Amino acid sequence: MKAAFFRQHGAPEALEFGDYPDPVAKPGEVLVDVHAASVNGADWRVVAGAYGPVAFFPYSPGRDFSGVVSALGEGVTDFAVGDEVFGVCDVGIEAAYAEKVAIKASILARKPATLSHVESASVALIGLTALCAVEDTLKIKAGETVMVQGGAGGVASFAIQVAKHTGCRVISTTSAANIAYVRGLGTDQVIDYNRDDFTQVVSGVDAVFDTVGGDVGVRSYLVLKPGGRAAFIASGPKAPATPRTDVTGLRPAVGRDRQHLDRISALIACGAVKVPEITTFPLSEAAKANAVSKGRHFRGKLVLRVR
Ligand SMILES: NC(=O)c1ccc[n+]([C@@H]2O[C@H](COP(=O)([O-])OP(=O)(O)OC[C@H]3O[C@@H](n4cnc5c(N)ncnc54)[C@H](OP(=O)(O)O)[C@@H]3O)[C@@H](O)[C@H]2O)c1
Repeated sequence: MKAAFFRQHGAPEALEFGDYPDPVAKPGEVLVDVHAASVNGADWRVVAGAYGPVAFFPYSPGRDFSGVVSALGEGVTDFAVGDEVFGVCDVGIEAAYAEKVAIKASILARKPATLSHVESASVALIGLTALCAVEDTLKIKAGETVMVQGGAGGVASFAIQVAKHTGCRVISTTSAANIAYVRGLGTDQVIDYNRDDFTQVVSGVDAVFDTVGGDVGVRSYLVLKPGGRAAFIASGPKAPATPRTDVTGLRPAVGRDRQHLDRISALIACGAVKVPEITTFPLSEAAKANAVSKGRHFRGKLVLRVR
């Protein structure tokens, strides 16, 4: 099969396109013909070796995808060949930048019926992450005010819509070029972070979901009301230290399971969440897509067209 892979750690340009070993479905797994694979901020970091050296070379990255089941491993009864599915590779496993991927059937789900493969791939990991953050970790409730940092990004695009659907008032930050986009997601108050310091214009919020990291993450604690909570997904494996004793910092545990993927499909089916703005690249241009991802100033999602 064809795949995008790298032979040594380096810049996004280290990603090549060419022949790669076909995966095989082990017991409990299914083989999926991948139609579209999502590009995530983690991917260029995997290429760079930022999480440590990968276990083998050449190595194909890529976490979430949408496609069609093409073979069943021993013992799989909940899918049939030909089923349209979407999913996120198991924790610690990658290789979605490829024409075929093998994955545990138990963490795979049926593709949202109304979405294309490109659209379905776009929402798998961002949806999973947003739901783990705002529903499972922050446990947002109707009537609360929630601040989502980095509103134009993929995870934030999904989280803003979930918070609005829950009945929250939503505040978000973005650059001037993306204000209309972030407002279009339902955000009540959009702050241009190049013009205004969010700590000067926001206070007393119930919860913050930070998808930006660094200084933005640390300063997010300042806008919480006493008893407020903040969740961080771009500050490493732990929440940053809080300068306050009256608020809580949390690091969502983003697992892989079918329930969250089905919840994504349900939110899309009822019209609560729309797919983010999507820019596509052919799989052969994975290096180019990851260079854009590394720049961190695009809107919504980058998706690789595989078939
Ligand atoms: N399982 C997990 O824990 C998990 C899963 C998925 C993602 N993540 C992490 O979550 C983070 C977000 O990922 P993502 O894919 O949604 O987006 P991303 O690709 O990391 O970020 C893109 C967005 O960030 C915005 N941005 C950049 N600097 C900003 C700032 N100072 N203030 C506000 N917005 C800013 C950009 O908007 P502008 O152009 O308007 O600046 C752009 O739309 C990444 O660090 C990623 O690695 C973690």
